[in-house]
Amino acid sequence: MGGGYELREATEEDAGKVEALARLCQPLRASVKGTYEYLALCFPRYFLLAFSGEQLVGFVVGLPSLAGEAWIYQICVHPDHRRRRVGELLMEEELGRFRSDRFPRVRARVLETNQPSLSLMRKMGLRERGKKGEWVELEREL
Ligand SMILES: CC(C)(COP(=O)(O)OP(=O)(O)OC[C@H]1O[C@@H](n2cnc3c(N)ncnc32)[C@H](O)[C@@H]1OP(=O)(O)O)[C@@H](O)C(=O)NCCC(=O)NCCS
Repeated sequence: MGGGYELREATEEDAGKVEALARLCQPLRASVKGTYEYLALCFPRYFLLAFSGEQLVGFVVGLPSLAGEAWIYQICVHPDHRRRRVGELLMEEELGRFRSDRFPRVRARVLETNQPSLSLMRKMGLRERGKKGEWVELEREL
């Protein structure tokens, strides 16, 4: 694993730290601890954490939809650890899991003003398919 960062699945005990990190990651709309607890309970395979030693430095939450598609719900990297490929590492592992679980495509919505995130999604192969208000909708076949 590059850069000394390690990934593992979230557990409900991680929820408080995930909430604290999410609050440092505007424009991401941080969820509350209880929501992250349930996301870890229900979707641990798609709720991945990145660590530098003991420190939580990033996470991604993916959600399978009832329509059979995979969504990236949130991705966030601690400001002190950005531009070191942590976001890319999280996305690569997430997309690999979606692919091996046979989702046909992955989708995401990103604020049109959020250039870092739009750029990350494009780098991971997602392409714009439309707009919903101030949100850009992106998707890629898996
Ligand atoms: C978006 C975010 C997760 C990127 O994480 P990161 O670990 O810094 O990204 P990486 O180092 O893996 O960069 C991968 C690619 O993302 C893009 N990228 C990341 N930061 C960028 C920036 N500040 N400006 C432009 N492109 C950027 C680039 O394409 C980059 O590839 P490159 O280095 O070859 O140019 C991080 O900036 C973040 O947490 N932002 C706040 C939360 C957020 O907006 N989340 C998305 C909404 S849910």
